[in-house]
Amino acid sequence: MVKEICQELILSQEVLEEVCDCLQEEINKGLAKDSNPEATIKCFPTYVRELPNGKEHGRFLALDLGGTNFRVLLIQLGDKCTMDSRIYAVPQPIMVGPGDGLFGHIADCLASFIKERNLGDELLPLGFTFSFPCKQEGLTKARLAHWTKGFKCEGVEGRDVVELLKKALAKRGDVKIKICAVLNDTTGTLMSCAWKNSNCRIGLIVGTGTNACYMEKLEKVELWDGATDEPNQVVINTEWGAFGDNGCLDFVRTEYDDNIDRESINPGKQLFEKMISGMYMGEIARQVLVRLVSEGLLFGGYTSDFLLEKGSFFTKYISEIESDKAGDFNNCRAILEELGFNDATDTDCANVRHVCECTSRRAAFLAAAGVSVLLNRINEESVSVAVDGSVYRFHPHFHNLMVKQISQLIKPGIKFDLMLSEDGSGRGAALVAAVASRSSMR
Ligand code: BG6
Ligand code: GLC
Repeated sequence: MVKEICQELILSQEVLEEVCDCLQEEINKGLAKDSNPEATIKCFPTYVRELPNGKEHGRFLALDLGGTNFRVLLIQLGDKCTMDSRIYAVPQPIMVGPGDGLFGHIADCLASFIKERNLGDELLPLGFTFSFPCKQEGLTKARLAHWTKGFKCEGVEGRDVVELLKKALAKRGDVKIKICAVLNDTTGTLMSCAWKNSNCRIGLIVGTGTNACYMEKLEKVELWDGATDEPNQVVINTEWGAFGDNGCLDFVRTEYDDNIDRESINPGKQLFEKMISGMYMGEIARQVLVRLVSEGLLFGGYTSDFLLEKGSFFTKYISEIESDKAGDFNNCRAILEELGFNDATDTDCANVRHVCECTSRRAAFLAAAGVSVLLNRINEESVSVAVDGSVYRFHPHFHNLMVKQISQLIKPGIKFDLMLSEDGSGRGAALVAAVASRSSMR
């Protein structure tokens, strides 16, 4: 019975192929000039047209907003890359308060970092990693399309976030910096990996949110309105988290996905992201567990107040439970105790683990379908995919699950590898700022 209930989370090869076909179609719509306003996958050109060559050098500041942590970083690029960074909290009221409050907070943190590190005398270049969907109008101009991942600050959608940051800094009047680039975390991830790996063409995030960028030929980017000189390519930020927002993924979505969407801060939006990323994965598993209890299939039909609380089953629990060795439920038991289940049986533990596996496998397979579409589009013999994000980093099988599934979905003859990218938002931001000084992107 438990297996039967979980069955709808298991995606067959045929279904995944169908998902790939839909995604391919939606990306084409996103890139097309005429249909772009209606396209759900926006495919924003990033204005990044060159990858690093490994020779970039200099000292840079970076801001990283939109992942698990908000950070300010100081990066030294040379033969090696060294980094100094500090995490700052973004309190919940700021995440959903007025935009001026958010940018004021960012400016305050940057000022305090500069003061602490005695950087006040230099005019340092800064790369701003702002990991939300933005329509870029240049390398230093990005209008927020809409908030995702739990942020909802009024007065920012439709505005240029670089302008808002400059305004907040000007209001303080004590920070000397030069904003050289605004970028998405996917772009940072791609650049960071491409620094030493010349095959890298895709940047993927499976973390709080999910998204991917890739290098596309200009001739395929109908909506491109920038220069058409060499190199004839541009990094496209797909914003694939919004895949399915027009209903095209309804054939794979479940009642759990519907519930999560309905109760979210952005109903009807980011439906692909809500099936994959860390902000939602634990909650999907919790919903399945609650259903199993209510049908008397788990914990003898008795629930706990904790389990009934929205958000109480963290995504990291999935990684921890799946890290238990076969036949041993040490992590699983400890987590169940935290949730108020002190007498879980081995069968309960095995069932909880099964729910986690079904949830994370579905996420890994959907992300794999996405990467396969991009690999097939790029259609080069050998491509490296740079990957970052807490789900990919900490789930014990996510990498292997993705590799296996991608191998089954790509055209024969294409070779690929998935590489953990170190610090896209630090090194990547510095690299975009550095590469930006080269002619084609100025
Ligand atoms: C980090 C990057 O390593 O990964 C962030 O530096 C990025 O910029 C993040 O947003 C994504 O992962 P998470 O799990 O923090 O959302
Ligand atoms: C969300 C954002 C996107 C970002 C992704 C991963 O989908 O909209 O811009 O890249 O999360 O952080």
